[in-house]
Amino acid sequence: VQKIIIDTDPGQDDAIAIMMALAAPHLEILGLSTVAGNVPVSQTTANACRIPELAGRPDIPVHAGCAAPLRRTPITAEHVHGRTGMDGPDLPQPELRPQGQHAVDFLIDTIRTHPSGSITVVTLGPMTNLAVALVKAPDIAARIGRVVSMGGAYSECGNISPSAEFNMFADPDAADIVLRRQLPLTLVPLDITHKFLISASRLDRLRALPGRCAQAAAAMLGFSERFDLEKYGWDGAPLHDPCTIGWLLAPDLFAGRTVNVSVEVDSPLMQGATAVDWWQVTDRPRNALFLREVDSAALWEVVLTQLSRLP
Ligand code: BDR
Ligand code: CA
Repeated sequence: VQKIIIDTDPGQDDAIAIMMALAAPHLEILGLSTVAGNVPVSQTTANACRIPELAGRPDIPVHAGCAAPLRRTPITAEHVHGRTGMDGPDLPQPELRPQGQHAVDFLIDTIRTHPSGSITVVTLGPMTNLAVALVKAPDIAARIGRVVSMGGAYSECGNISPSAEFNMFADPDAADIVLRRQLPLTLVPLDITHKFLISASRLDRLRALPGRCAQAAAAMLGFSERFDLEKYGWDGAPLHDPCTIGWLLAPDLFAGRTVNVSVEVDSPLMQGATAVDWWQVTDRPRNALFLREVDSAALWEVVLTQLSRLP
């Protein structure tokens, strides 16, 4: 059983990633930590509480984390995700309450008290919490088994600015800290997620699943799809964050290279852009497995299999 912490800013796609992990018999979620991103942290925290509750897993602890990026004004993405950040399904107010402990301290304590190398941290939003944890407790860097992050872009440029992906753009300084620590890091960038499009026929198969989680997921995708379809003119909307859990469950469906990835923190024009040394033209150290290819049809089967296991 692989122990994971999911650091997240739900987000419809975050929610579906969390559901997939909840459904996976060999993943054990030690907790959800929340961060400001798609919407402010109070709202991402309330949204995070709704998911384990919906899945009948109120035992999963939720820890609220950083309310703002390290040194920038927070940006949000209500224009993509709706007013609540998780528009689509009609979910009740959650009864599950966040724990008293801050997400950063939860990350530090959990990584310190488990065997070294045993914990995987999955980040689905700006990397603020993990960066603060690494600065506050540098010893945890050597104890983290793996970090799997949705963020960055190489061929696909950007989705919040012409040059940057949202999670990198929102807190590039945090991403810079994480990228410089030489952690065992897997990056799931737009190069992957823009190939994982949820077309009407894929969505129909999700809608046909009976469980309340699958139904909520379908309503979430039905909502966020409207935005992306108009914006890109594709026949389906990209499903970003679930690709991280997809990689943990079925890494053979993906291909990438271990290369140097650096993030731009100075230039306003290029804020959060990832410079990916795909052709190894520098001697900068290889610091990330940067994924670029995915078997999209097979990955959708993985998502459906996971969601069909939930109530
Ligand atoms: C990322 O930004 C957020 O809007 C999504 O939840 C995903 O984590 C995609 O760029
Ligand atoms: Ca997210």
